Amino acid sequence: MLTVSEAINQRRSIRSFRSDPLPDAAILEILEAARLAPSGSNRQPWRFIVVTDGDEKTRLRKICFDQAFIEEAPVVFVCCVDLTAYAKASREKRSREFIDFGVTETLSGYFADPAIRELFLNEPDSDLNVHFMSAMANTYIAIEHMVLTATALGLGSCWVGAIGSVEEMNALFHLPPATFVVAVLPVGHSAKLPPPRPRISLNSILLRPLPARL
Ligand SMILES: Cc1cc2nc3c(=O)[nH]c(=O)nc-3n(C[C@H](O)[C@H](O)[C@H](O)COP(=O)(O)O)c2cc1C
Repeated sequence: MLTVSEAINQRRSIRSFRSDPLPDAAILEILEAARLAPSGSNRQPWRFIVVTDGDEKTRLRKICFDQAFIEEAPVVFVCCVDLTAYAKASREKRSREFIDFGVTETLSGYFADPAIRELFLNEPDSDLNVHFMSAMANTYIAIEHMVLTATALGLGSCWVGAIGSVEEMNALFHLPPATFVVAVLPVGHSAKLPPPRPRISLNSILLRPLPARL
């Protein structure tokens, strides 16, 4: 098993997989990495479908612009958001956990004030779609946990965000209301390891120079 920094360094998008199946323990470990991800107010909006069936993979490939490696991978994680994680009932549950686990005692600023927390908590359910961006951002964190865990286990994966039709996805997996696919993650043994892809320099990602000591 690689360390986190080894996994970050060695990860590549893998678009060619061997057909040998993944051990069940690896599938479970990858899902566990998603489950443990952080999320705003601990809402945990991520949901997954584990696809191993050939016919389902073929249909997934077609919905995702015919990208062949989706069908090649022994396991494909279909990564979804469940917007009901932002509904009032769920908010209340998560908020109670904040109290039970002593999180509220560690809060500062506005959120340390129980009256302000109460205000947020009691807001009525508006259109849940307004939470889509937060749900997606949180789910993307969980997915990257999966990617790095796969790498650490010696496996390859490739994010697939190119989803042609959300409606076709919903129909294929009979997704419940307010649940949407946001990405697809094929995972398997890499057939070939590509060289690292270029990245822009450290200077170009800094909006102002580093402190002098660095
Ligand atoms: C949100 C997201 C969506 C992506 N969607 C696709 C995709 O649909 N098909 C694909 O081949 N690669 C996809 N990629 C992989 C990127 O092309 C890849 O990460 C990038 O070119 C850098 O290469 P590397 O991952 O090997 O470092 C996606 C990556 C991310 C983070």
